[in-house]
Amino acid sequence: MMIVVDRIATMQALMRQYRREGKTIGFVPTMGYLHDGHAALIDRAREENDIVVLSIFVNPLQFGPNEDFARYPRDFERDRRIAGQHGVDVLFHPEADEMYPAPLSVQAVVKARTDVLCGRSRPGHFDGVATVLIKLFNIVMPDRAYFGMKDAQQVAVVDGLIRDFNFPIELVPVPTVRETDGLAKSSRNVYLSPQERKEAPALYEALKAAAAAVDRGERNAEAIRRLVREHIEAHTHAEIDYVEVCSYPDLTPLSALAGTVLIAVAVRFAGARLIDNIMVELP
Ligand code: PAJ
Repeated sequence: MMIVVDRIATMQALMRQYRREGKTIGFVPTMGYLHDGHAALIDRAREENDIVVLSIFVNPLQFGPNEDFARYPRDFERDRRIAGQHGVDVLFHPEADEMYPAPLSVQAVVKARTDVLCGRSRPGHFDGVATVLIKLFNIVMPDRAYFGMKDAQQVAVVDGLIRDFNFPIELVPVPTVRETDGLAKSSRNVYLSPQERKEAPALYEALKAAAAAVDRGERNAEAIRRLVREHIEAHTHAEIDYVEVCSYPDLTPLSALAGTVLIAVAVRFAGARLIDNIMVELP
């Protein structure tokens, strides 16, 4: 039976109890409106831990003033059902007042890995993510935390957070789950118009073409960025927010490809902003 908790104190008492019993705890933080990408994180946590905790909290702190906080899709009953079907033990679903009863007296500021990619176009976003994760880590006290590589920059930021603040938590990155046509699953895909939905797989096509070019020996980042841009411009009406080639996990922009390389893209359709990325390993 899945336990649904909306209080922090209840959650901490329950988690302490599990720890006393020697149980390992896997944690999947989400903002809900669950899809197969979230489910992959839950399934992985289920395989590797005695107890699986899923949080659903649309964190106001990580949305900019002109972003979609108010209209972010929510469907708790459906989420609860999916969580149960995937074997979640504890579903933590606090109200905003429970998480932020008063303005914070201390807040996290992410100093590195944010002047690129989404950090540049979403100022303050990763500060909000880091702040809520510090709270959630202290509420759940997990052994492992599961994050999707679809948000590669988030994984890199969380890697820094866990190291810098010595959270005794293992970060587990999970590969991106896609629709059959290659579009990365996202809660925001529901906002795409039918035409935009048809065009959206071009993002991943462009990234795969880039990875293929790297396979054939291309090492020039500018050439890779151009290739990705041109493919997206030729196949969509989206406005390109960025196409970047950087090292992973430190996210330094590269001019020549070497090591673990992240090729990442963000575009704006009228209906939604979409992101995607691909990693390539070079000797
Ligand atoms: P949310 O966007 O709900 O995503 C929750 C987790 O699901 C993240 O780790 C994200 O990378 C992962 N995810 C989303 N789409 C995926 C896909 N197609 N394949 C694999 N994993 C996918 O990310 C957040 O929420 C928030 O920033 C949060 C970490 C909960 C902090 O508020």
